[in-house]
Amino acid sequence: MLETIVQRERDFGTPASLAAETVALVIDGVECSVPAGTSVMRAAAIAGINIPKLCATDSLEAFGSCRLCLVEIEGRRGYPASCTTPVEAGMVIRTETPKLHDLRRNVMELYISDHPLDCLTCPANGDCELQDMAGVVGLRNVRYGYEGANHLNDATDSSNPYFDYDPSKCIVCSRCVRACDEVQGTFALTIDGKGFASRVAAGQNDPFLDSDCVSCGACVQACPTSTLVEKTVIMMGQPEHSVITTCAYCGVGCAFKAELKGDKVVRMVPWKDGQANRGHSCVKGRFAWGYATHKDRITKPMIRASINDPWREVSWSEAINHAASELKRIQAKYGRDSIGGLTSSRCTNEETYLVQKLVRAAFGTNNVDTCARVCHSPTGYGLKTTLGESAGTQTFDSVMFTDVVIVMGANPSAAHPVFASRLKRRLREGAKLIVIDPRSIELVDSPHIKADYHLPVRPGTNTALLTSMAHVIATEGLIDEAFVAERCELPAFEQWRAFVSQPENSPEAMAEITGVPAADLRAAARLFATHGNGSIYYGLGVTEHSQGSTTVMAIANLAMATGNLGREGVGVNPLRGQNNVQGSCDMGSFPHELPGYRHVSDDAVRGEFERDWGVTLQPEPGLRIPNMFDAAISGSFKGLYCQGEDIVQSDPNTQHVAAALSAMECVIVQDIFLNETAKYAHVFLPGSSFLEKDGTFTNAERRVSRVRKVMEPLGGLSDWEATCELSNAMGYPMHYKHPSEIMDEIARLTPTFQGVSFAKIDELGGSVQWPCNEQAPDGTPTMHVDEFVRGKGKFMITKYVPSDERSTRKFPLLLTTGRILSQYNVGAQTRRTPNVMWHKEDLLEIHPQDAEDRGILQGDWVAVQSRVGETVLRADITERVQPGVIYTTFHFPESGANVVTTDSADWATSCPEYKVTAVQARRVTQPSTWQAKWSRFSDVQHQLLNDRLREGEAPAKGPQAQPKEREGEATEQV
Ligand code: SF4
Ligand code: SF4
Ligand code: SF4
Ligand code: FES
Repeated sequence: MLETIVQRERDFGTPASLAAETVALVIDGVECSVPAGTSVMRAAAIAGINIPKLCATDSLEAFGSCRLCLVEIEGRRGYPASCTTPVEAGMVIRTETPKLHDLRRNVMELYISDHPLDCLTCPANGDCELQDMAGVVGLRNVRYGYEGANHLNDATDSSNPYFDYDPSKCIVCSRCVRACDEVQGTFALTIDGKGFASRVAAGQNDPFLDSDCVSCGACVQACPTSTLVEKTVIMMGQPEHSVITTCAYCGVGCAFKAELKGDKVVRMVPWKDGQANRGHSCVKGRFAWGYATHKDRITKPMIRASINDPWREVSWSEAINHAASELKRIQAKYGRDSIGGLTSSRCTNEETYLVQKLVRAAFGTNNVDTCARVCHSPTGYGLKTTLGESAGTQTFDSVMFTDVVIVMGANPSAAHPVFASRLKRRLREGAKLIVIDPRSIELVDSPHIKADYHLPVRPGTNTALLTSMAHVIATEGLIDEAFVAERCELPAFEQWRAFVSQPENSPEAMAEITGVPAADLRAAARLFATHGNGSIYYGLGVTEHSQGSTTVMAIANLAMATGNLGREGVGVNPLRGQNNVQGSCDMGSFPHELPGYRHVSDDAVRGEFERDWGVTLQPEPGLRIPNMFDAAISGSFKGLYCQGEDIVQSDPNTQHVAAALSAMECVIVQDIFLNETAKYAHVFLPGSSFLEKDGTFTNAERRVSRVRKVMEPLGGLSDWEATCELSNAMGYPMHYKHPSEIMDEIARLTPTFQGVSFAKIDELGGSVQWPCNEQAPDGTPTMHVDEFVRGKGKFMITKYVPSDERSTRKFPLLLTTGRILSQYNVGAQTRRTPNVMWHKEDLLEIHPQDAEDRGILQGDWVAVQSRVGETVLRADITERVQPGVIYTTFHFPESGANVVTTDSADWATSCPEYKVTAVQARRVTQPSTWQAKWSRFSDVQHQLLNDRLREGEAPAKGPQAQPKEREGEATEQV
């Protein structure tokens, strides 16, 4: 069941054995047969016999410490622990005998003699395995009394914003420590002390908040008592019902059980059966969901005549009618193509599909684009060109079968944490690791993991580096000739081989450009080509470059040349940033493609949509986002519907974006908060959070997962309903009763989604990986198994072309940007949660040498200037970056990282070159820049207006009503 009363998921005690061979045995007279290597405890559970346990749980390896799970085995002396005893053929086992009963009760007596007897007021009352076991063993009294030495007065550690640690309730079962080690891979916890004195400790007995803990929640999940417990459970009590849904943060797409009381979320628990996350989570999905009911939520539609006017609250119908009449007025005056729309990678597939349909069918133009333009559009281009499909090739599970991994331009520990935990587990099992990144990311050197090679590539030279890796593989006889001969176009391959084999592409020749020592690069290339299953995982550090598409093709070349495609453990795996980047691309958000990546110029495809939608569609591609901005500034693009994207904060060259929006006559923003883009909007439509939605997200594995509504939209309408209303007001009718009908339409019109429906997803346990159609009715976990989607794989020449963003005398440093664990994208959600405790502001990482050269000390304000703008950030002096490279994140609007990024972009897709900006840095005494001052002013303005609106006051006064000093700044800056 996907919507149910809250109940603990079935726990088999120990992990499943993957052995093919089976073993027959008898447990309590029941004959059973289980895979070899299964524990007696698990075999019993499979046979329907629950052996009491405390230290065992099936997400962790057996530990054997509590001695509650003892059994008798015929022919064996003593009472072995069933969790640590593997089954053997012919075993005859008894799990309930008078002796076992006595032994277990004795164990429980010892535990309870050092445990508070406050069950009625304990937050875990009703959800406590210790309480359950006391009942199971029939504990009636405690002969040892409660007077002796105990831990009942140990102080609670409440330092973590999301959970408490109350050591007085700890039974030292070590499940938390093992969860942190085995599942999360952080190794933040230990058992400190021995015997009676042993206690769980974070770090050197630090408060949790000061330890290495990254608040993933795995220990809380594993704890069988209320020692580690969510603060929301302490405050609100036990939840009563639950809904299975999907995390709305990153592209891992973790499945969660939203556990509720009424319509109030009590906690989000990673779903054990989630096929992307296998019961694990990170701090964002697990804990940072409070933004959904934050006081800053805007729940009433608003309009204003000009961006200098105050907002006016109106009804939905007035807002929609005003928006539609403005868009129609603009089209009548400036032409059909003077308006467009942006879909969002945070919204559902169904919402995204409807926005592109609105633009194409109701606006009559192909001027639709998506935020994927600025992140993974080169992935689409590069993989489609080489392999025939623009998506990743594997499941996340596949990483458990890999032998050597390249992680390139990605920082999974921060941006895709649950995948990072799986990867770390495989690395601890012995897989090799090659990190290609200008920065020393966490994976390079973390507990129990050390990268075999870290190639600190100079920003902007990825293509040169991969081509020189290919040189080594081609010239040292390491190509998988049989794979290439069978699976790839040979003329293109031969051209590629000749190209990469040229001496100028050797690691020695390229070292000067890439900054990577030739010996390291040769060794890494040999390792990747010869060490069994090789997989490549990459992120925006690959795509957000002027040669982003070329580098993606170089990655595909490398995978084909080494035969690493078409089976488990290998593949090309783009790590998508936002939750539905894959889906927003699949749904036809690009101006040149209809859903399913089919070109608008294809008459047959267009005809299919025209017949279904009852309109004539334009055969020419529309404007991309940067073209929309340019057209706005030149006066031909005047109206924009922007759903769920904050382009002012997230797109490069903020001044340019602001100028473009200022030049438009009608900007419609649909969002949950008044974001930076809303400052330029004329119509604001309240958006809904993922907790208020029904629909699907598609993660980086092409996995289409259900998103289920757990509370009604705070603004009254779901996002898809608002889009339908706008379309109806524009004169193009859209009438859907439920998002499942939108998915049915998507399936009808999109060959790769032909078999997808909400019912099918439910039938398959909550998700399905596309393609899902007649050929693959249950979906496609691994792509390109027998042949590539395009038939033969195509090698592409990847000539290195230097970026225009090169260090010069005026701008000698290269700025690159990225993310951190606790914040997400532009921070609109995570900045409104306690996650700010870990990251209050964006910092500028600078190498000690570069800092010393400029007289910069730790914590100083540093002005960063590029050819387009300047911002100021606080310095963090660190060797994580190399000399000549500086780094920052872009989670806070005040930092204005994108004030300095330029409009340099990928040659094929216009994806901005966020990862390389030539800059100069200098120490300054003031934190403010024009952008920061303006942003603060504007925030104050919006906040005051919001406050008045909430209090029911008419927001009659404009910016002149603001404090004098703010007004001055505004006049000067805006
Ligand atoms: S929350 Fe996660 S990282 Fe922190 S101690 Fe628990 S398991 Fe370890
Ligand atoms: S905190 Fe919980 S999981 Fe950890 S040792 Fe104590 S009782 Fe066990
Ligand atoms: S890894 Fe990504 S999808 Fe999973 S909980 Fe974290 S943010 Fe959500
Ligand atoms: S459950 Fe087996 S020893 Fe604890």
